[in-house]
Amino acid sequence: MNSGAPVTVYVPGDSSAVSIGADGVARQLDAECRRRGRAVRIVRNGSRGMYWLEPLVEVVTPEARVGYGPVMPGDVANLLDTGMLEGAPHPLRLGDLAGHAWLVSQQRLTGARLGVIDPQDIDDYRVHGGYLGLAAALSMPAQEIVRAVVDSGLRGRGGAAFPTGIKWQTVHDQPAAQKYIACNADEGDSGTFSDRMIMEGDPFALIEGMTIAGLAVGATQGYIYLRVEYPHAARALAAALKCAREHGYLGADLCGSGRHFDITVRIGAGAYICGEETSMLESLEGRRGEVRVRPPLPAIKGLFGQPTAVNNVITLATVPVILARGAAFYRDFGVGKSRGTIPLQLGGNVKQGGLVERAFGLTVNQLVYDYGGGSASGRAVRAVQIGGPLGAYLPESEFDTPLEYEALSAKNALLGHGGVVVFDDTVDMARMARYALEFCAVESCGKCTPCRIGSARGVELMDRIMATRARAPGEGGGPDIALLDELCDTMASGSLCGLGGMTPFPVRSALQYFRKDFLG
Ligand SMILES: Cc1cc2nc3c(=O)[nH]c(=O)nc-3n(C[C@H](O)[C@H](O)[C@H](O)COP(=O)(O)O)c2cc1C
Ligand code: SF4
Repeated sequence: MNSGAPVTVYVPGDSSAVSIGADGVARQLDAECRRRGRAVRIVRNGSRGMYWLEPLVEVVTPEARVGYGPVMPGDVANLLDTGMLEGAPHPLRLGDLAGHAWLVSQQRLTGARLGVIDPQDIDDYRVHGGYLGLAAALSMPAQEIVRAVVDSGLRGRGGAAFPTGIKWQTVHDQPAAQKYIACNADEGDSGTFSDRMIMEGDPFALIEGMTIAGLAVGATQGYIYLRVEYPHAARALAAALKCAREHGYLGADLCGSGRHFDITVRIGAGAYICGEETSMLESLEGRRGEVRVRPPLPAIKGLFGQPTAVNNVITLATVPVILARGAAFYRDFGVGKSRGTIPLQLGGNVKQGGLVERAFGLTVNQLVYDYGGGSASGRAVRAVQIGGPLGAYLPESEFDTPLEYEALSAKNALLGHGGVVVFDDTVDMARMARYALEFCAVESCGKCTPCRIGSARGVELMDRIMATRARAPGEGGGPDIALLDELCDTMASGSLCGLGGMTPFPVRSALQYFRKDFLG
């Protein structure tokens, strides 16, 4: 029999935490507490993004939410024996998480509620500032909403960094009876997970952002194009959409305003190219994911031939903050033309991987060492790849580069969706260049020759360069390296979309900074 008021315990339901045992921890906690007659309320929250500490359990005590981690199912009995439910000391005790230095130094705007709230509880969402943005938007003319987003300086977080407000203005200005919001939740970049974290840990933020986007451009229907590899996110979104409808935040009469907006989730079949916006639209329409020739832009002729605002999850989930707190508040974060905050995703060979949301301008050094704590292997860090599989590699000598669009572009690099993957000094950069070309060959939609044929020829060239390196170290693959460079030119200038067009970034940066690896 249970006794006393239930103690609230948070055990993340985030799929990364689940992949390393969080479900087992929740089950064990429930079973042990029943056996001991202790009343607990287990809440499956999202992750705070401190992935090296997952499964990270939090206990609500009168003083604070006290964290313990990483907790394995086998630790639960011992933690209860030593007074975890009272926040007692234990080797796994992390203290008051709200005061944890790794989190306190961040500037979480888009991800402010991650790990904090119950993602399925709309009241919890509202208590933590949710739906204030929509309330503001419902009181504004559409043009004013668009103006607020323009003024905020928000640029698309999916990779291309196009100004969101300008895109919305184009859709707004189209005289069509039917317009759409298409949320790109394909999150195909290696080393990225912020979209997934939002959809699993704060799904109402995306729903609210899409609803505001609909009001701004005059769209009544939204689609979320979700990658098939995200079943947890699919479940979280389905439950949140149902709940939002039941509470009048979606449907025919938004919050009693007489306005209409609804959202449907569509699951992709799993192809990197389906993240490219025109392929995504093809796939959403039920066809093979193949790139469309532009113009026309999706903002003019997009889904089912209608004006469509295609935006990334993070872009859309950031909009409520802008509407709730004002364009100037958001624009005050950041540097130069990179305004606001960026959820950086730190992964690879790093001690403390996870989500770091900061104003643009944090350097690679600060991210890798201050937040990441250096390599997980304990060896020297040699390189990072920024912006997914099509992003450039930077060597340690460039780690003072600020993480913002213009500074990276000046180094022939890109920020993409904000993924940063760390490599130690055992990495073979020639192999990484080959991998980039092989990735392009495997994922190419096949529509244009520079990408379809160029990537395959690039893999063959890399095989020759690596064979020469093994046979005659130091003598180098001179003519083949020159040919590789030429091939990169052709792919960069002749490809129809970013897959073929940006594959030269990792290849060329590897050649520029790590040429020795190509020569042996
Ligand atoms: C090969 C390729 C893959 C892409 N994958 C994604 C993706 O997974 N998610 C995403 O949001 N954008 C992706 N993009 C960018 C989209 O084409 C598009 O710019 C973005 O969805 C627009 O939203 P935003 O303006 O909010 O960033 C990809 C682009 C290319 C060229
Ligand atoms: S660059 Fe590659 S993925 Fe893009 S359209 Fe051409 S073949 Fe398709």
